[in-house]
Amino acid sequence: MTDFTQRVFSGVQPSGDLTLGNYLGAIKNWVSLQDAYETIFCVVDLHAITTWQEPDVLRNATREVAAGMIASGIDPKKSVIFNQSQVSAHAELAWIFNCVARMGWLNRMTQFKEKAGKNKERASVGLYVYPDLMAADILTYHATHVPVGADQKQHLELTRDIAQKFNSDYGVDFFPEVEPLIFGPATRVMSLRDGNIKMSKSDPSENSRINLTDDCDLISKKIQKARTDSEPLPGTFSELGDRAEAKNLINIFAALSERDAEAVCLEYEGKGFAEFKRDLADLSVSVLGPITKEMAHLMNDKTYLDSILSEGAKNADNLASPILKQVQEIVGFLRP
Ligand code: TYM
Repeated sequence: MTDFTQRVFSGVQPSGDLTLGNYLGAIKNWVSLQDAYETIFCVVDLHAITTWQEPDVLRNATREVAAGMIASGIDPKKSVIFNQSQVSAHAELAWIFNCVARMGWLNRMTQFKEKAGKNKERASVGLYVYPDLMAADILTYHATHVPVGADQKQHLELTRDIAQKFNSDYGVDFFPEVEPLIFGPATRVMSLRDGNIKMSKSDPSENSRINLTDDCDLISKKIQKARTDSEPLPGTFSELGDRAEAKNLINIFAALSERDAEAVCLEYEGKGFAEFKRDLADLSVSVLGPITKEMAHLMNDKTYLDSILSEGAKNADNLASPILKQVQEIVGFLRP
């Protein structure tokens, strides 16, 4: 097996406000990887338009996601930060992968089924082949490690299948085996209104999620309003059984305070939600408040943000282009 550089790639869609789920499930973990790996973080605008985006809103959200990454601790000196549409290798390799991946594989993708809903005839073709583009995002950098929330696991399995099929079809050892990095106590942050559904940018209820653009008051209010049950908290996580909302809040507490869920349970054993929620609200404000503030500050300096993204795109292109050229050779595209 070829020895690949340890390289991290991950991305976020600019299809709405960044949520606490994006932060705890992904971006916070990315920050911790910057010293151990070469890291590339992407605002995936090509993915965003698989569902309708108003052009001006998309432009603004692209900057806002970049600002969110930087405000959370992604350091442009250590990591490449850019928006996907500015490096054409993503779309070019995605086309090749459309021809490698099988219909049967894409038909199994649960996220397409969820997002397309009942009316899949009216979903964009882009939404259907979205996982091929995601595989291209990763593999056009020969990335080896991909830190994501639990909801992306199936897409990463598909990425591995595509890489393997490509290697075996063309008799090469070209694409690495990608390893998902899904870690921490908040790999799946749930809605604050219903502990059985994922916290998401697209939930119609604003109270279901915390946005990284919410101010301290609003963060506090949303935590206070979060659905809970009437039982006191037990001393161990396993005793929470099927209390989905309570488990979610404990996991959020654990992730924000960088402790494990068991330690949080032990601290709140026998206590009711009034006290727990008050502390969780304070904790959320103390962790998210500075990020929100820094994001707003960065959004006032669009020249700076655009310079980071433009520099990032150049650096990303320098990494991706040679790999794409090799793919063209392997596939048999004449490069006169
Ligand atoms: P997206 O934009 O939906 O989410 C970005 C990242 O946030 C994580 N995440 C969550 N983690 C925990 N709990 C939640 N409630 C929650 N909601 C979102 C996601 O798992 C993800 O890591 N397809 C991807 C973007 C993408 C990508 C890639 C990721 C495109 N190309 C290549 C990795 C590698 C997506 O839609 O993420």
